[in-house]
Amino acid sequence: MCGIFGYIGEKNAVDIIFNGLKKLEYRGYDSAGIAVIIDKELYIRRSVGKLCNLGLSLEENPASANIGIGHTRWATHGKPSKENAHPHTDTAKTIVVVHNGIIENYVELKVEFQKDGQEFKSETDTEVIAHLIKKYYKGNLFCAVQKTLSRVIGSYALGIISKNEPDKIICARQDTPLIIGVGTGENFMASDIPALLPYTRDMIFLENGDIAEITAEKVVIKNIKGNIISREIKNIRWDTVQAEKNGYKYFMLKEIFEQPRTIEDTFRGRIYSDEGRIYIEEVKLKEEYIKNMSNIYIVACGTSYHSGLVSKFLFESFAKIPAEVDIASEFRYRDVILDEKTLVVAISQSGETADTLAALRLAKSKGCQTLAVCNVVGSSISREAMHVIYTHCGPEIGVASTKAFTGQVTALYILALDWACKRKTLTIRELKKYLKELWEIPLKINKFLKNSQSVYDIAKVFANKRGFLYLGRHINYPVALEGALKIKEISYIHAEGYAAGEMKHGPIALIDKSMPIVAIVVKGKIYEKIISNIEEVKARGGTIIAVADQSDKEIGNKSDYVIYIPETDEFVSPLMTVIPLQLLAYYISVILGCDVDQPRNLAKSVTVE
Ligand code: F6R
Repeated sequence: MCGIFGYIGEKNAVDIIFNGLKKLEYRGYDSAGIAVIIDKELYIRRSVGKLCNLGLSLEENPASANIGIGHTRWATHGKPSKENAHPHTDTAKTIVVVHNGIIENYVELKVEFQKDGQEFKSETDTEVIAHLIKKYYKGNLFCAVQKTLSRVIGSYALGIISKNEPDKIICARQDTPLIIGVGTGENFMASDIPALLPYTRDMIFLENGDIAEITAEKVVIKNIKGNIISREIKNIRWDTVQAEKNGYKYFMLKEIFEQPRTIEDTFRGRIYSDEGRIYIEEVKLKEEYIKNMSNIYIVACGTSYHSGLVSKFLFESFAKIPAEVDIASEFRYRDVILDEKTLVVAISQSGETADTLAALRLAKSKGCQTLAVCNVVGSSISREAMHVIYTHCGPEIGVASTKAFTGQVTALYILALDWACKRKTLTIRELKKYLKELWEIPLKINKFLKNSQSVYDIAKVFANKRGFLYLGRHINYPVALEGALKIKEISYIHAEGYAAGEMKHGPIALIDKSMPIVAIVVKGKIYEKIISNIEEVKARGGTIIAVADQSDKEIGNKSDYVIYIPETDEFVSPLMTVIPLQLLAYYISVILGCDVDQPRNLAKSVTVE
């Protein structure tokens, strides 16, 4: 959460930073600010609320500079206010800082300053950094930052400029992402790749403990001891259009419609359905290890946790490996029994979620093998895991995760099949069948999306309801959880996902005429069972919206509304059944006039515990 951006070069830093912040706004949007140096003086502008407020303020008082830093905030310490908005300065306004992360020992440091009579202008943890840098500044900004960081405990991506050294930006990283964009006669820094793409594809991913000095001409990276270290410049192939809305009203809708392509991109080059072959280049787990693996622990948060729940069925049914799925923030504080035969799989779109990262580190410390399923190349989780499989979804900007879920399920489906193959728990015929099912999914989703109007019509009927119940069973139970999460987060309507068989043990009491029940009723092992659950709902006057196979001739008689989807094998069906649920949440949110891409109180990348 929070996005930072910096620029140094010939062009107008104000415009470039503001545009960079626009791309980062999904990381936080309760206030924003910018600092530039003009004629050796600091010029700072901060606004509360969305970035457009800062834009208005900059329009009223235009400025031009060749160096600057900016910030878009998601509050952690101190309410959203102008005083708490970044950048923060020392009292004499010589040094200015933008920060993403949390300084854990800031109270201690603040007290130290306050004893000397130092006043603080904000409630943030960040301000203490500006004062520390000022305290240690003896004519060399880099050294002052270095000393400051040796006193600081916590996580940070920092951008720092000083009017005393107007030709450089100092930036530093610890447990929070920070990327340097390398240009010609100009350089950049940003929290994320899309913000840099309009300017350069050459990027350096800073590692923990790195401190960089960026001038217009060069980038020098050192460690905390001041020793120069070299970091590879990576060429990023994401195109800028991928990062734009592409004509859709909201990023979320664009991302829902991208799924046929992102699913295909995730399996392309990795599966060969005719030959029954799978090739995942980057996962280098030894065949011997896969054969002898005792169990899998899957750790993740939110939507990624739901894709983990889907994968439990895949690992168990295909590869016959016992699998447990845990919410990362719970896993960390349990006495989980792990050993070297346990594989811990961390799933994260951003690759920066603090609890998932901590769970991964815990697993490593216990001697387990670790594997990450990530979307963001070079992210912390992808770098710290021993193995990584990337979902090739491109940037996910909408705060509500959609294409990341289907990308993760795709990657996990391939992994489970690959390991089934190595453990000889599926026949080649079965393997080919499951690969073919996956291969056909993008076409099926495309076909369904052409008829998204049917979901909109249902959304219109139910948008004013106060609560929803989502029911699913077996591999579609996690999809029911995901459908409920989507509607909660973007429409602010209370919803619960339930295992349909569990309904009669409590939630059935909620059912009356005003309660819509979304039931996932695809053909498979437990089809008859879920039909019985629907009957139970109908008998109590509930309204059923069924998500069912096109070929299901009976479901229309048992439900009030049906969203028909192309038929798939049940093991691949979550990739299909989740699409109407994403759309339903999206349309209801639009009808209610909610902020679809930036729902209240949420941020895209949760880098605090
Ligand atoms: C829900 C959503 C969140 C994330 C969760 C984990 O739509 O986006 O629940 O899924 O914060 O994020 P990642 O996958 O980046 O670790």
